[in-house]
Amino acid sequence: MSNPETSPMPARAAVHPSALRTRIPPSGLREYWYPLIVAAKVPRQRPVQVPLLDTEVTVFRGSDGEIGALDPICPHRGASLSQGDCHFEGTVSCPYHGWTFDRHGELLAVLGEGPRSPLPGMSSARAKAYPTRTLKGMTFIWMGDGDPAPIEEDVPEEFFDEGALVQFAQDMWDCNWRVAMENIFDAHVFYVHRNSVQFRLLPVSTLLAMVHLGPRRARPSVINNRAIAYRMEDNPTARLLSEDVGDRADSDPSLPGDGTEDMAAYRSAYPGLDGQLWPRSNLRFRWSQLMARLLDACHRVGLRRARGRQVHNEEWNGLHLPATFRVDYQTHVYTRFGIPVGTDRTRVVYLHTTYPPSTRRRVLDCIHFRLWQNWQMNFNFSGQDKKIVENQSFSHREKLSATDAFPLAWRSLIVEHSRDSIREREGASRFRESPVSLVADDEQ
Ligand code: FES
Ligand SMILES: [Fe+2]
Repeated sequence: MSNPETSPMPARAAVHPSALRTRIPPSGLREYWYPLIVAAKVPRQRPVQVPLLDTEVTVFRGSDGEIGALDPICPHRGASLSQGDCHFEGTVSCPYHGWTFDRHGELLAVLGEGPRSPLPGMSSARAKAYPTRTLKGMTFIWMGDGDPAPIEEDVPEEFFDEGALVQFAQDMWDCNWRVAMENIFDAHVFYVHRNSVQFRLLPVSTLLAMVHLGPRRARPSVINNRAIAYRMEDNPTARLLSEDVGDRADSDPSLPGDGTEDMAAYRSAYPGLDGQLWPRSNLRFRWSQLMARLLDACHRVGLRRARGRQVHNEEWNGLHLPATFRVDYQTHVYTRFGIPVGTDRTRVVYLHTTYPPSTRRRVLDCIHFRLWQNWQMNFNFSGQDKKIVENQSFSHREKLSATDAFPLAWRSLIVEHSRDSIREREGASRFRESPVSLVADDEQ
């Protein structure tokens, strides 16, 4: 386990947190490694164009097997290399006059001029190339202005762990990356996901705890200036989601009992609604009781895998720069990258990470992900988030609540600690203003 530097978030300040949004570049932070593409999806005969960070990249296979990434604007007269062809192994040729480049951007030939062209090898004729690195089948790209940072600082730890099985899925969300990334550890979790398949499988006690989390939440910490996270014991949402009937059945004699008392506690009266109850009915609760019995039976006959912490480095158990959100479910790790594409476009890459102890388990994990988990988690559950954030305003002055502490801490982390912000303060200007700290909404 690492020994992270932790520090509490700033408590007071001079600027309303809504104003911090304008200090975060809508086109994304540039001084970071990002997932570019699943390497297996890059064909041999032609390049593909991948949009990210408000620009585009031409992606093709290099002769050494690594994936190449070039600025699509041809240095000759600006045609798009993404429309070109890969006539020769490890190269891409521009569709206009046939300038042919390798993955480092070196001009190797000018097919339109013939072999006597004096241009190949000239440094002034090079295409702009971006550093890439492929890990466990995912190609990452560095598009920063500065020298590439150590990739281990930006890419989750399992990519460097031989025993980890990392499976991918991808979706496109029609919203800015800043909106997508703030969809975390606030009061939306039970409310938005109450009808998700995942929540229909929650045991009664977890369901009850989710409903009654209340308005006060723990304060997240900044870790190594690259992440914000709760300690597991302080992270009510993640802790509850990672618990299971198997963990609770022995310690909670009410499970899977008739739950009469629990049912009374499930619904609460709201004074502003003339004492009416929410949730409106007990149906979901009764369903949970049923599922608890089923899941408990599965657990007892060994059909459910043993649980235990998968993430031991707390830097990787929350929100991490540049755009990574992680939850340790204790059977697997859920990761969501919100990769900036354009003003209203975010490419969401999901990771499902497990640590199978045997080849048999590895095969079962692959089948489980493809037949069930990918749909259940990434499209059923996360699709509910997508529907909300795609229609969310990000420009009005917000009336914030204490339960918004985590997303607000994320804003502050970017403005104060991101490499882009630090470069800005050191002279190269992306942010125009100096760093600020937050002022609570009720102090305005
Ligand atoms: S514009 Fe690319 S070769 Fe001429
Ligand atoms: Fe959500």
